[in-house]
Amino acid sequence: EEHSVRVAAICDRMAALEGPLLPILHEVQEEFGHIPEGALQTISKKLNLSRAEVHGVASFYHDFREEKAGKHVIKICRAEACQAMGADDLGDHAKSRLKVDWSQTTSDHKVTLEPVFCLGLCACAPAAMVDGKVVGRVSKDRMSRILDEVGA
Ligand code: FES
Repeated sequence: EEHSVRVAAICDRMAALEGPLLPILHEVQEEFGHIPEGALQTISKKLNLSRAEVHGVASFYHDFREEKAGKHVIKICRAEACQAMGADDLGDHAKSRLKVDWSQTTSDHKVTLEPVFCLGLCACAPAAMVDGKVVGRVSKDRMSRILDEVGA
C-alpha cells in the first residue's frame, strides 16, 4: 500500500519524460532497493501500458531485482567475451561458494550474486563488478579473495 503511493508519486514525477518506463523503474529500484511487489501494476496503470509490457521490460534488463539486495552486490559478466574466458566456470564457483543461484542473496543477507551482460571490460575478461567497482581478469582464486573480503 505504502509502496504503491510512493511508486505512483514517482510515476507522476517522471511520466512526462520521453520513454519514461526505464527511468521510472530505475528510480523505483533506487528508492526501495528493489522493485516491490505490485509496483509493476502501479506503473502500468500510470503509464497506460499493459502489465505484460512493463513486466517484459523489467525482466529484459537484468538491472532490476525483485527482492532487496544483500549488503554486497557481486555481478559477474556473462556476455560473449567473458564467456569465452571462463565466465561460466567463474559463475559456478561463486554460486557454489555462496550457495545461491543467479540473482539470489545469501541467507545471511550479505551477498547478492547477479549476472550482468557486458561491463565494457571485454579486453580484461572475465569481468565482474563488486559493489559498483569493475574488476577485470577475475580468476577463481581472485573471486575467492573477493568473497573473503566481503566476509562471505
Ligand atoms: Fe564481459 Fe564485455 S563481455 S565485459
